[in-house]
Amino acid sequence: MKFPCRLDKFISHLGEIPRTHAKAAIKKKRVTVNGEITKQLDKPITEQDEIMLDGEVLVYQGMRYFMLNKPEGFVCANSDDLHATVLELLEEPNLGELHIAGRLDIDTTGLVLISNDGQWTHQITSPKKQKFKTYLVEIAEPLSEDDIDALETGVQLHGERELTQPAKVEVLAPYQIRLHIVEGKYHQVKRMLAAVGNKVVTLHREAVAGIVLDDDLAPGEYRQLNDEEINLAK
Ligand code: URA
Repeated sequence: MKFPCRLDKFISHLGEIPRTHAKAAIKKKRVTVNGEITKQLDKPITEQDEIMLDGEVLVYQGMRYFMLNKPEGFVCANSDDLHATVLELLEEPNLGELHIAGRLDIDTTGLVLISNDGQWTHQITSPKKQKFKTYLVEIAEPLSEDDIDALETGVQLHGERELTQPAKVEVLAPYQIRLHIVEGKYHQVKRMLAAVGNKVVTLHREAVAGIVLDDDLAPGEYRQLNDEEINLAK
């Protein structure tokens, strides 16, 4: 939300009501600005003003940044007809203004970053910014040295013209790798493993842009990011 902002827009946004309802509330004198009733729909509002609707202060939350440990079965979308969305896991007001910075598949678990700061989410998701993402991957077959070389050099994804950008593979166990990639194409990790004749069994995102998922954040839990984490993506 940008300030100064029209009063009706502010009420609609923070009161989570349509703009027409906000206008009606103002006209019916249900709104005060710094203690004074006003009927001016386009009155300019700044972050310092105290706005009340029906006697309740509407608190502007400012920029909000969260990390969530996504459980399986949730979709990374603002709304979905069939499945629960990751936003439903947040007990926060104004969910409609939040963006998911880099989506995970329904069966992928782990770190999802969520914010209402569009410039910040752009820093994370823009292909030009080349932010590292780290995945813990359980695979169907052990990787050969040639497979590792191919993944680290660049593989041809089905339906893509360019090779993938160099990745980093850490072999943790015969059936488990940690994969660091800078791209975030649709099903990127699953397609990379498919390109070397393998298959992803489970996929878990551990880190994005230097922001690491807390070990003690259980699936479905979330927390606010601290300033250091927020600045990592900038
Ligand atoms: N790559 C995938 O294939 N799926 C994800 O959810 C994330 C990266």
